[in-house]
Amino acid sequence: MCGIVGYIGEKEAAPILLEGLKKLEYRGYDSAGIATLAKNTVHVKKDKGKINDIGFEASLRALPGNIGIAHTRWATHGEVTKENAHPHSDCSGNIIVVHNGIIENYQAIKKTLNLHTITSDTDSELIAHLIEHEMDSGKDFIEASKSALKKLEGNYAVLILNRKENQIVASRDGSPLVIGVGKDEYFPASDIPAFLNHTKKVIYLSDGDFVIINKNLEFFNLEEDKKVEREIDNIEWDAEEAEKGDFDHYMLKEITEQTETIQKAIDQNEDEINYIAKQIKEGYGIFLVACGTAYHACLNAEYLFSKIAKKHINVVSGSEFPHFKHFLKENSLVIAISQSGETADVLEAVKAAKSMKSKVLSIINVKGSSLDRLSDITFYTKAGPEICVLSTKAYTAQVALLLLIAYAIAENLEEGKNNLKNLYNLTYNLTALSTREHIRKLAEKLKEKNHMFTIGRGIMYPTALEAALKLKEVSYIHTEGFAGGNLKHGPVALIEKGTPCIVFVSEDTEKEILSNAAEIRSRGGLIIGIAPKDNDLFDYFIRVPEASFANSITHIIPVQILAYQLALLRGCDPDKPRNLAKSVTVK
Ligand code: F6R
Repeated sequence: MCGIVGYIGEKEAAPILLEGLKKLEYRGYDSAGIATLAKNTVHVKKDKGKINDIGFEASLRALPGNIGIAHTRWATHGEVTKENAHPHSDCSGNIIVVHNGIIENYQAIKKTLNLHTITSDTDSELIAHLIEHEMDSGKDFIEASKSALKKLEGNYAVLILNRKENQIVASRDGSPLVIGVGKDEYFPASDIPAFLNHTKKVIYLSDGDFVIINKNLEFFNLEEDKKVEREIDNIEWDAEEAEKGDFDHYMLKEITEQTETIQKAIDQNEDEINYIAKQIKEGYGIFLVACGTAYHACLNAEYLFSKIAKKHINVVSGSEFPHFKHFLKENSLVIAISQSGETADVLEAVKAAKSMKSKVLSIINVKGSSLDRLSDITFYTKAGPEICVLSTKAYTAQVALLLLIAYAIAENLEEGKNNLKNLYNLTYNLTALSTREHIRKLAEKLKEKNHMFTIGRGIMYPTALEAALKLKEVSYIHTEGFAGGNLKHGPVALIEKGTPCIVFVSEDTEKEILSNAAEIRSRGGLIIGIAPKDNDLFDYFIRVPEASFANSITHIIPVQILAYQLALLRGCDPDKPRNLAKSVTVK
């Protein structure tokens, strides 16, 4: 994880880097730091904690110079301390590094650097010393950097500031890195929002790329061992899309944006959807692979494909995929679903699929991401930038697309579109202020609870799983999701007087799920019904419309809002839950 950003141009670097870091905080917020270069002197400020918490924002902003690099950290090697915060430097102070990724052979590298003074516990600091070590044997900075990077095992995106030459080297292998291109200025960064206020032109780097950034850009690829050309692309997002605007938090902004993302799903190119449907029909063995919330979208697809398209698919969690790899054949189709396109477990699965010569189709939100580059076919969810660490609008965009694909397989795409069209007004009402207030009152009742449960049947079962994930990751209240019918096989032992249980009701599962609700209520459980109509069993009722196969979209929205309200009432940061990062780029 971690976010890195650099600047080289004619403006003051520090404010630009600071602004970029704030946009990248979703990638990690254990510590932050900036190094700038002015009149041959390197200035560094770094500390642990979030940029705003540390109170060192002003000192970061005041760093002088028109060139610099910056980092926001999600700790892997070494505790969260000031010493382990980036940037890191070599012994001479001439080579300064920020790094995102993991160096797997860091112990072996460290042994070769026994003459160097290493001041942190990080693997990243070793990169600066390794370059210095290579220079000691007579290489110039560029050759030494190339040679050092080739020795790294694992994955990295690095920015290396060279004090002597006023230049930055940017290189990636397995971790994301793009370069924003302005007028006489460049912004290498982990992700586009870091520079979207300054330019809408971007260069997507490939694995092995090594870029010398100075007055212009010089591209080299370490794997191909030669100079390469890279094209400038236009960014379709607007800068405002990556801003909070009038909202207190990105989480609430992104929840309310779901009305538009559903509309964008409806507007997706029909030929492309039909093309994907064709690939699925022709595939011999279809595997959907994803992690976390995106995995729940895949579980939704399992039901949608079964019910709408009468098509069986296999859903595998990214990290478990290696255990099923041997089933793959040349005509198998692996569909990877990911918001970021950078999730390490999903990338590993895709590489495994490629090694078996299977076709890889990806459904992703971030254009130019690693998954985008690895896939044979890519389909964009077009949900716009999702900045909050929790996935909300990207999830419903994934589900909406999967629903359309299921209808397309059944050769009835129009019906799928109509199903989604009806949702437009419905989702608007679900995110309206009055609904939010109703849910806030529920949050007041739940805020002191230690455990909660969510249950659903059929397509509401993945919704129960996703609801439990949303609630626990942002409110830190332990919440588990179950299939309604499974509760009596063990989990019901945990129900005590007042234990909250959220029950997802849809028309087709009403009878059975209400029986399950009754079983919980008779043991003292507090029943929260998310349903099209009220019922005597409910202690608290949230009305949602009956939307048939799109119920997974309507029913999850109130829980996203509940999770947000609970976070606020419990003093948690909804955009940056503890221990989490948005792109999980480690296995
Ligand atoms: C939960 C959440 C995570 C991600 C998971 C996969 O709110 O955001 O569970 O869904 O880390 O991330 P992507 O979709 O980027 O592959």
